[in-house]
Amino acid sequence: RASADELHERILAAKAALGDRVVVLGHFYQRDEVVQYADFLGDSFQLANAAQTVPNAEAIVFCGVHFMAETADILAKPDQAVILPNLAAGCSMADMADIDSVEECWEQLEALYGTEPDADGRAPVIPVTYMNSSAALKAFCGRHGGIVCTSSNAETVLEWAFERGQRVLFFPDQHLGRNTAKKMGVPLEAMPMWNPRKPLGGNAGDDLLDAQVILWHGFCSVHKRFTVEQVEQARAEFPGVRVIVHPECPMPVVDVADESGSTDYIRKAVEAATEPTTFAIGTEINMVNRLAAEHPEHTIFCLDPVVCPCSTMYRIHPGYLAWVLEGLVAGETLNRIQVPDEVAGYARIALQRMLDAKP
Ligand code: 13P
Ligand code: SF4
Repeated sequence: RASADELHERILAAKAALGDRVVVLGHFYQRDEVVQYADFLGDSFQLANAAQTVPNAEAIVFCGVHFMAETADILAKPDQAVILPNLAAGCSMADMADIDSVEECWEQLEALYGTEPDADGRAPVIPVTYMNSSAALKAFCGRHGGIVCTSSNAETVLEWAFERGQRVLFFPDQHLGRNTAKKMGVPLEAMPMWNPRKPLGGNAGDDLLDAQVILWHGFCSVHKRFTVEQVEQARAEFPGVRVIVHPECPMPVVDVADESGSTDYIRKAVEAATEPTTFAIGTEINMVNRLAAEHPEHTIFCLDPVVCPCSTMYRIHPGYLAWVLEGLVAGETLNRIQVPDEVAGYARIALQRMLDAKP
């Protein structure tokens, strides 16, 4: 097994040999040993933008998870290869909504609400998928007048959807959907959770009749660990602490936090603080630790005292990065992520709607 120093030398050598032929993108949740090689570090929205605007590199090596690499492939130029260093780097939340279940749900919603627009031209339902979903679900949204959102633009995207539809089907993350819609004034009673085991018809579908946002049952196993008690504990130990959490956290946690926002929002909030501040942060540990190391003027810690990593993000190890980069040097494109054209075409429509939706 190669030592960390050897891997470091190999990655630097491969990157130097490839020059502008490769661009390495990294998500904020990647470990530092990987982040150091990223040409661009960002949240999922920024990385999607970067993939679309990357200059003429032959390959984009994506240090993140599978749905992010799929998105990059959809948005990159056709001859650019997108590479995921470890194909086992998935996302458990993205796996919680599969295309067959969403199609089945859609059929039942069509049976309940019909398919005709109202007098204002608004469709019965607009599907909105969180970026953390498979390309097939993004394509579903593209085909059905829907759109993609990330945690940094969910409110803008929901506004876009409400202009065009009477209600929204939001998947896979119930928490992002609920937290965002609640912030926009949608009452909780108007946000039923889709239940595949409760067939529609008769009383069973009643709660859907007044629905404004129909939520899917997905969640993030990292963010669901944060609790109200942790927030109370942080406030008891550090009076004046600023609590910032990611909107994938459960609603009670977002409600008691001082602020909530995407990974980039959290980073900017820390960077913008001019006075030494104590921050308790509810998101993935690699990002929290990096912020703490970069900002010794502040006290920064993770709300969850037990280490809280995203285990799938962690599957991108420098060893895999060295392997795929050396493959490129040798003329081999390893671990390429390629979304089939028939899926990519519709998924691109839904992604482009998001990129064009302005706040
Ligand atoms: P961001 O959109 O904030 O980068 O978050 C992505 C993610 O996977 C959070 O769990
Ligand atoms: Fe998926 Fe959660 Fe990991 Fe984000 S932190 S990639 S939502 S499992």
